[in-house]
Amino acid sequence: MLTETVTAPSPLWWQRPDLGFAADGALTLAGHSLARLAETHSTPAFFYSADRIQAKLRMLHLALSQVGLPYRIFYAMKANRFLPLLGLIRATGTAGIDACSPQEMDLALACGFSESDISYTATSVSNQDLDILARHPDVLINCDSLSTIRRLGERCPGRAIGLRVNPGKGVGYGGNQLLQYSGSKTTKFGIYREHMAEALAMAAKYDLKVVCIHFHVGIGYLPPQLPMWDEVVSDCTWFVDQAPTVKSVNLGGGLGLPHVASDRPLDLDHWAGIIRRHFGSRGVTVCVEPGDFIVKDSGVLVLQVNSVERKQQIDFIGVNGGFNLAVEPFFYKMPCEPAPCRISAAAEAAYAPANLKPVTIAGNINEALDIWAEQVLLPPLKEGDYLAFINAGGYASAMSSNHCMRGQFYERLLYPAAAAPPHP
Ligand SMILES: Cc1ncc(COP(=O)(O)O)c(C=O)c1O
Repeated sequence: MLTETVTAPSPLWWQRPDLGFAADGALTLAGHSLARLAETHSTPAFFYSADRIQAKLRMLHLALSQVGLPYRIFYAMKANRFLPLLGLIRATGTAGIDACSPQEMDLALACGFSESDISYTATSVSNQDLDILARHPDVLINCDSLSTIRRLGERCPGRAIGLRVNPGKGVGYGGNQLLQYSGSKTTKFGIYREHMAEALAMAAKYDLKVVCIHFHVGIGYLPPQLPMWDEVVSDCTWFVDQAPTVKSVNLGGGLGLPHVASDRPLDLDHWAGIIRRHFGSRGVTVCVEPGDFIVKDSGVLVLQVNSVERKQQIDFIGVNGGFNLAVEPFFYKMPCEPAPCRISAAAEAAYAPANLKPVTIAGNINEALDIWAEQVLLPPLKEGDYLAFINAGGYASAMSSNHCMRGQFYERLLYPAAAAPPHP
């Protein structure tokens, strides 16, 4: 299946066969009751579904196989570097790694990925980083500035490289400018059209062979953003035309997934069609490096309710984790979807409008922005209950900090439970 079927918008829009409420009211992921897991282990806790990650990889392969060109998938490790999860991706043998620091590259190598399985795209690159990269000749480095080309050329003349380019257009979830890596505002990412000739001359000076054109223009794009992504891809063919030695194009990551009931999943048929239309006759290998698309909806963050209290007109639910564990809702204003780990009635009844109450969910960090969600409609919650935050598989644990010394969390990759409870 390329694009998942979706039902009409509903508060339970995020349910799917491996994530949802079982008949006994337990919220389950991969057949495991999240409340039971939370009771057995400590919270905060991140749980990831191994099956979901594999399914997302399969969906991507299926889409890319329709393009009619050789292709490669590099998982963007920055989204989630939990070792069992990296091990799972390695074991599938269906994706390499997109690394953005020597530390990520070393971790990929330690997980069994070979140098040629690693695509390296970093920014504001230091000489120390380049010294390390120079010792790994088969890692493909996508240089995002003239300075990097020069300093890499000084260290390893004759090497094959990629150029990260900036088409001056970008895409982001819901048109969110905070999530765009290129656009009307000049950004630090990539080589602009007006600097391309200089970049190629710099590469030629050091006999660096430009074998890849790379672009990554934003995060979380969905069907409404595909027309703009189409324009981006079209514009990037100009860069490919400038470099006759190019063998591959790397379209970056940024493939989004639904965050609210009204979001539609990315139409992968349409997406693959855009790639085919622009590159189908160019004889290049198509590379992509998604992070979120592969891992984000595999994961949930489970927190415990510490306090339930009305302050003026607002019912606050205080939980035992804050923005330091999942920054996106706070920094990037990404929607956040909480769900109780146990409900007392069948899901449809528990979520019937009359049974829902608007609550504001607050974290345990002493910062004013530490509010997970405001006036969100949920079934009743009491102190000691557990709440799961959906879509916590990407850019959550990986971006966590120890602010207020509250950075500890438990993490586990879940395989299907032997006797998975039925889902409604
Ligand atoms: C160069 C590059 N490639 C890939 C990605 C992965 O993006 P996403 O997880 O949105 O697919 C990022 C994320 O910032 C990136 O900077």
